[in-house]
Amino acid sequence: MASRTSAFDLSKCARPNILKLQPYRCARDDYKDDGTNVLLDANENAYGPGLALDAAGNLPAASTVNDAGSPQIDFLGLNRYPDPYQIELKKLLCNLRNTKVHTQKDLTPDNLFVGVGSDEAIDALVRCFCVPGRDKIITCPPTYGMYAVTADVNDVEIVKVPLDADNGFQLQTDKINEALSADERIKLVYICSPGNPTANLIRKEDILKVLEHPTWNGVVIVDEAYIDFAPEGSSLAEWVNEWPNLVVMQTMSKAFGLAGIRLGSVFTTPEIATLLNNMKAPYNIPSPTSVIAQAALAPKNLAVMDQNRTNIITQRERMLAEMPKIPGVGRFLGGQASNFLLVQILDSNGKPDNVTALGAYEAMAEKKGVVVRFRGKEYGCEGSLRVTVGTEDEVTRFLKELKVVLHSLHTGTQV
Ligand SMILES: Cc1ncc(COP(=O)(O)O)c(C=O)c1O
Repeated sequence: MASRTSAFDLSKCARPNILKLQPYRCARDDYKDDGTNVLLDANENAYGPGLALDAAGNLPAASTVNDAGSPQIDFLGLNRYPDPYQIELKKLLCNLRNTKVHTQKDLTPDNLFVGVGSDEAIDALVRCFCVPGRDKIITCPPTYGMYAVTADVNDVEIVKVPLDADNGFQLQTDKINEALSADERIKLVYICSPGNPTANLIRKEDILKVLEHPTWNGVVIVDEAYIDFAPEGSSLAEWVNEWPNLVVMQTMSKAFGLAGIRLGSVFTTPEIATLLNNMKAPYNIPSPTSVIAQAALAPKNLAVMDQNRTNIITQRERMLAEMPKIPGVGRFLGGQASNFLLVQILDSNGKPDNVTALGAYEAMAEKKGVVVRFRGKEYGCEGSLRVTVGTEDEVTRFLKELKVVLHSLHTGTQV
């Protein structure tokens, strides 16, 4: 059929910032999950959901959340919209973070916004505080790519103040504070702790220096997606009771092994939480997501999460010990407070090298079925791969294949 005539011109109708948008890219854009690949690219939880599932993979029925942590999805109720407030879920999230490490004050559901992954929160915060085409955010590369994508979508400028690559990828607080003093249009500072792809915790005293800026009227956002892999007591969520302009984001996608349910949480002041809750789509959290998230926060399932986390930390230690023995593996960059490691790959002269690292990334995926993430183009990450910690078998396979691939790249032989 001939196409219909219309005055429509997409290139003039869509917003210019959307037309030129560089979307978020992941390794699975290059290498699909065909069911056979070992996926060490997206920092998921290789040990599975933090749920005490039965042998058939089902959540056993139980009477109460506290009893066995397994309320059932009400399939017959799916014709109804979910609860817009999610107070019970929020109470459980507060219980988890009320550790009294950073303050004696308790978090309550008024401190919370829950979203469709923390990606929803990242976007909601930009829309809440930044006027498109006028306001700006600070990001600290190398960092999580969605801060920039969200800023671009919302036509908000990004001011980059890189992490100090020579100093363990910590914040350059003086530079951040100078930028905040110089430009009142900067509304948000996105800090990732533990960092992605750097895996190090940001020093609490450095975050404090930004919070204490004497003149800046804006919000500090600490993205704690990987916080449960860091030492206990590292989360600053409780601190939102002390600061009027702090937001702490968390997610069930990582330590809880529930990336598939898409549940992210924002701890902040009741005032900021109210704004975020006022903005959201009314029923943003699907009822199955809420049921599973509540189950995950009950003791029996938290024990599973804890065991999975212990297994991941054991494999992380193993990777830290074994990878340096492979010729062509260089330094680990950043820290070790996460479920992934950032490691430099060397050329045959022993120098960190993007060509070799990219070659290794491609050969690992295409020839060996092991998908990791090439990060060599990120600031301060020359020649690096980011590798998610897998199960024991996955780590065994990764170590074996990396050795083979690097040997063939260095000797110019066929993989
Ligand atoms: C630092 C960081 N923040 C947020 C996210 C997104 O989390 P969610 O699955 O909750 O949207 C990721 C996912 O990889 C991440 O690495």
